[in-house]
Amino acid sequence: MDDRTEMIELEEIPAELRGVLDQVLNLGVTEEQFHLTRRSILDSIVTSELLGDLDAVRIAALGKSGVISQWLKLIGTLPPENRAPVSARFNRVRDEVQRALEKRKVELERAALDARLAGETLDMTLPADVPPTGTIHPVSQVMDELAEIFADLGFAVATGPEIEDDWYNFTALNIPETHPARAMHDTFYLAGEHEKPMVLRTHTSPVQIRAMQAAGGDKPVRIIAPGRTYRSDSDATHTPMFHQVEGLVIDKGITLGHLKWTLETFLKAFFERDDIVLRLRPSYFPFTEPSAEVDVGFSIVNGKRVIGGSGGGNGGGWMEVLGSGMVHRSVIEAGGYDPNEWQGFAFGCGIDRLAMLKYGMDDLRAFFDGDVRWLKHYGFSGLDVPTLSGGVGA
Ligand code: DAH
Repeated sequence: MDDRTEMIELEEIPAELRGVLDQVLNLGVTEEQFHLTRRSILDSIVTSELLGDLDAVRIAALGKSGVISQWLKLIGTLPPENRAPVSARFNRVRDEVQRALEKRKVELERAALDARLAGETLDMTLPADVPPTGTIHPVSQVMDELAEIFADLGFAVATGPEIEDDWYNFTALNIPETHPARAMHDTFYLAGEHEKPMVLRTHTSPVQIRAMQAAGGDKPVRIIAPGRTYRSDSDATHTPMFHQVEGLVIDKGITLGHLKWTLETFLKAFFERDDIVLRLRPSYFPFTEPSAEVDVGFSIVNGKRVIGGSGGGNGGGWMEVLGSGMVHRSVIEAGGYDPNEWQGFAFGCGIDRLAMLKYGMDDLRAFFDGDVRWLKHYGFSGLDVPTLSGGVGA
């Protein structure tokens, strides 16, 4: 016997049953055929190299019209008293074939797996593919920096809708219907019939009113409100959509001194320089009284303007960075506070301009072109979260 075929010992057919095989023989299976077939099936099993071939052998042997199935069917044609020994013999062969099939199947599956694993060996020395990651837009970065700086001063971040009604955007801010300041704002009005005229907010100042209303008229308010603003304006330094941050403090006994200290602290933290100098220039805004425009000093370093130091001398000068003032009593009233009891200061500042000054871009329009090359160059890593301790500048 070939040692690869593990044929079981079949009992000798007892003498009295010889006739049975003859009968089987008469039905088409000789003793010799029986042995040869069994042998050939088992050989085919162990020599199968592919799972598909093995399955073909299974079907040829045990399938509906397979050889062994055919034999088993012949049993029914024997006289009943002779069926048992013959069927026991055929069944043993069937079981034997089944076991051999199972064993070979496991072997072939393992070999296939081994081959696949050998083929798929990883080369750990190859440089890894770096998945492309986006960058944080400078505007988002600056917004995060502002939130971080003002959180440290006890300010919460407030938001408001970009589609405002005319009352929040103008009237409540002491800009009545006929006021010339409305014309200054080049406002986008929404088409259609509305209860009140609807606008794309021209500044973040309406969030002042919303924040006061939300606070309920009896508690201090300390918020910044960064967000998108819209004006019908377009050139190298103006885009129809831009970003502002509003600041508002409402409390008792608030003075211009608090405003100045807050702005100085903010700008020093933002530009990460202690030599920031401020100049408050008297100005006019309908929602503040008195009002001041705030300039920050710049120096000239290697022929370039750098925020910090100078202001007046050594070729340096002043750059306007924000508008501010003491909140007008009508605005305090519109927000639901009693202006005889509560005072406050407010400021508004262009975020895009802050970003340009700090990070050295010179064309505002590039901010909104969505050019990935620009974003790769000026963008920030998502892991560089601004923190006061780690540096808000990322
Ligand atoms: N809302 C003003 C603008 O868009 C900016 C501004 C000025 C906001 C003075 C203020 C402020 O809160 O006090 O031009």
